[in-house]
Amino acid sequence: MARILITSAIPYINGIKHLGNLVGSQLPADLYARYLRGRGHEVMFICATDEHGTPAELAAAKAGEPVETYCARMHQVQKDIAQGFRLSFDHFGRSSSPQNHALTQHFAGKLAENGLISEVSEKQVFCKTDNRFLPDRYITGTCPECGYESARGDQCENCTKQLDPTDLINPRSAISGATDLEVRETKHLYLRQTLLKDRLAAWIDSKTDWPILTTSIAKKWLNDGDGLQDRGITRDLHWGVPVRKGTEDWPGMEGKVFYVWFDAPIEYIAATAEWANAQGLEDAAWQRWWRTDLGADDVRYVQFMGKDNVPFHTLSFPATIMGSGEPWKLVDYIKSFNYLNYDGGQFSTSQGRGVFMDQALSILPPDYWRWWLLSHAPESADSEFTWENFQASVNKDLADVLGNFVSRITKFCRAKFGEALPAGGTLGPAEAALTAELSTRIHAYETAMEAMEVRKAAAELRALWVAGNEYLQAAAPWSVIKTDADQAAVIVRVSLNLMRLYAVLSRPFIPDASAAMMQALGCTDWDWPDDVAAGLNVLPIGHEFAVADVLFEKITDEQRSDWQARFSGVRS
Ligand code: MF3
Ligand code: ZN
Repeated sequence: MARILITSAIPYINGIKHLGNLVGSQLPADLYARYLRGRGHEVMFICATDEHGTPAELAAAKAGEPVETYCARMHQVQKDIAQGFRLSFDHFGRSSSPQNHALTQHFAGKLAENGLISEVSEKQVFCKTDNRFLPDRYITGTCPECGYESARGDQCENCTKQLDPTDLINPRSAISGATDLEVRETKHLYLRQTLLKDRLAAWIDSKTDWPILTTSIAKKWLNDGDGLQDRGITRDLHWGVPVRKGTEDWPGMEGKVFYVWFDAPIEYIAATAEWANAQGLEDAAWQRWWRTDLGADDVRYVQFMGKDNVPFHTLSFPATIMGSGEPWKLVDYIKSFNYLNYDGGQFSTSQGRGVFMDQALSILPPDYWRWWLLSHAPESADSEFTWENFQASVNKDLADVLGNFVSRITKFCRAKFGEALPAGGTLGPAEAALTAELSTRIHAYETAMEAMEVRKAAAELRALWVAGNEYLQAAAPWSVIKTDADQAAVIVRVSLNLMRLYAVLSRPFIPDASAAMMQALGCTDWDWPDDVAAGLNVLPIGHEFAVADVLFEKITDEQRSDWQARFSGVRS
């Protein structure tokens, strides 16, 4: 039994995520966590909301709520939706937690002790009315390029030109509208990542088994002129982790907070501490996942994320960990994803384009989405969601292949033998061939899962479902029973046991359907079929079951075109 720590990139607090976000980190991480648990390994699966920064402040202001209230509410919203998709986190934390405050300040203190932090004086816009420094996007004014009057200090939304706040004509505060702005000197902390360049490069070079997508992005940033610059890790905001050196004040940094990208990955650790605290466990309970001096040396740590997150996880966060000089666990494997597109364009949170997680669950149960998304995960290239493709996959794979097998065999048994496994007959060559084929295919499935090849694993699982259908079709108990009831009984017993195997094997992908199959079978034995012959013999003669409800409803053409129309525009 191994110990595996799994983290999914933590979603920003503002707003509900779309299906592209889901398939790029949380969902494949859940697949992997469920698979490893199914194989009997000890898993710690962590996610959280990423709550700090300007976007959170702005979203709260827009919602007319204090930022603390907004974040608490949105955390619960995201947590409920994650539950709706059956994401099996051991803990879904909050980057605003006291644990993360303490750890973030701790890391900053260690980095400073080790000479890896510099203090830099900068000029920044200060608003006297608001009595605060304004981040670029808190300053609005007239765009020098197109004359748009509400251009933001970082970019004009109208003509998309990238701006500097000093470019704006008639600049004013986006908070109060005040125009008494002035440029003042202010001090910020920089993480001196450049000093760690050689160590980071050697570390990345040692990761020869990482996906190309991950290492190519990491190396590009490492070797590009401005990839690994020293990086500002503080901001003039109210909402965030106050800048402190460990537990001490940091002179000159009063009123400032750490940059959201500095504290967010530290939340992976802090969320594990939140988990331990919530369980009433000692610190040792989370430290054994994270401190190589306290038991984490035999942990395998795997991260899941979209490709835009790779630089932060291959360079910045490792720089924090390495620079601390303390024995924290570094990531062992980074599984990254390309983008999922939506019906001829991109999913877009800012434009509300595509299907969002809450909307998806409002029209269909989670397994339908899980199956489509995972079997079309954007691994080697971007992939695209279309309603036609979604309908076809659900109807073919889930309804026609798996669902049909389950309904056929349970109904046939009930009709001819009643709702219990019938006695009689012995296994023959067809069953031996089936067992051999299942063994080979299960092995391929396991190999794909262990390598986190998500699409391949889905294809192998589907092939397993197909193999059962083919066996049943060829064995044809509905004909055999006319001449040989014993032979029909054998086919039925093997098939009902195969249904149990499907429940076990499919659980990482479609946990609700698996639970429904097991419940219908009146079985609670979720043991993985290490030995297929034994696995096909778990339910004994006389074992009672009930015919399952329809596992998967087909998506009709009418539904499909309805949804297509409903989700063609933008979400308001
Ligand atoms: N919130 C970021 C995003 O959605 C991901 C942060 S991952 C972590 O892109 F490293 F910060 F944890
Ligand atoms: Zn403009």
